[in-house]
Amino acid sequence: MVPLEYDQMLDKYLLFTPGPVNVAETLRAAICKEDICHREPDFDALLGSIEHKLISLFQIRNRARYRAVVITGSGTAANEAILSSVVGKGAILILSNGEFGGRLHKTSRIHNKHTHLIEMPWGAPFDPAQVAAYLKTHKIDVVAMVHHETCSGMLNPLAEVGAICKETGALFVVDGVSSVGAEVIDMEACNIAFVSSSSSKAIGSYPGLSFVVGRKKHFKRLKHHAAKTTYLNLATFYAFLKHHSQTPNTPAVPLFFALEQALTDILCEGVMKRYARIKARADLLRVGMRRLNLDFLIEEADMCSILTTVRVPPSISVRDLRDRLREKSIIIYEGKGCFAGKVFQVGNIGELSDYDIRFFLSALKDVLLTLQAEAAELVAPVRPTGATLVMLPPAKRIQKKVVS
Ligand SMILES: Cc1ncc(COP(=O)(O)O)c(C=O)c1O
Repeated sequence: MVPLEYDQMLDKYLLFTPGPVNVAETLRAAICKEDICHREPDFDALLGSIEHKLISLFQIRNRARYRAVVITGSGTAANEAILSSVVGKGAILILSNGEFGGRLHKTSRIHNKHTHLIEMPWGAPFDPAQVAAYLKTHKIDVVAMVHHETCSGMLNPLAEVGAICKETGALFVVDGVSSVGAEVIDMEACNIAFVSSSSSKAIGSYPGLSFVVGRKKHFKRLKHHAAKTTYLNLATFYAFLKHHSQTPNTPAVPLFFALEQALTDILCEGVMKRYARIKARADLLRVGMRRLNLDFLIEEADMCSILTTVRVPPSISVRDLRDRLREKSIIIYEGKGCFAGKVFQVGNIGELSDYDIRFFLSALKDVLLTLQAEAAELVAPVRPTGATLVMLPPAKRIQKKVVS
């Protein structure tokens, strides 16, 4: 057991982030496999296996209707591939309620002249009725939404938006970069044409690869649009997949070995079992953080199971919190944009054990108490003898916040 006072540095960082993650030993071995040429049957087999396993990960029932392409590039590459390849000269509506919805919008504006936007404040849910009304009054060919808006930790409603798109005939495309591998994404039931994701988040592999899973009939139609990029044209990826199970350009082969291993490990464990394990780990963290009297940015029911976004207690600086935790080999995230300085984020994906979670919770308690004691000294400095000591309200509040 870890003693509660544990000031030692570990021999590795524990990545309590929404990715990158601590990878499994099986992946470390896989990335060092033999050198192969990507124009040889070995690579065809490797990519074929990844595609097969991705379709299994998504638990697609009618497997013959779907294909998956793998891109050498981070999650943004897969998102940009979708946004630059599926709209053609048509119109796209971006639904944004956070940083990553904002990025979809920015990317789409580069490639698509007719980019519409429904924008909610960061961390606020979408109103499906508003989306439905917009689609009824505007000619929209494609709707794009982030599934897990990582900046707030909020899961957005795939089934509702998918059903709305079905009614109007718009293609529904989804950024699943931070949810695939941890949350059910039923592409068939939710009417999703294309979904993107990356290797380095809930899939648990190294950064550097991303992928797009999509309906075959939609992949086939992409060749009718003029290409907007060379490297990220999904039609080209699909053409290479169809004829050879290869990629158009030189792929990062060692990362493909690692991704294949990560998918093998997930399928061996069982997809639903894995999702339940990730959720149980999130629950353990959340219960522990609530015991420290910490508040969360959004309701637990709205959260993805990979990440918890926590309000920073008064008088504590996120930067200090991060620095002190790093001294204990723990890495967390800071809030960005309008959440900067107000929240920190704790991920629970990758190779983190229950033991690591307890270690984290003890370290967090320790650091919060230390930082609050330091802050209390600042607001109520030592006074000359004889002076009356006044307990200032902020210091009192701090005391109450942390001691469980
Ligand atoms: C939802 C979402 N989309 C896109 C991205 C961008 O991915 P990458 O940094 O791998 O390019 C991220 C990264 O955190 C994300 O969380």
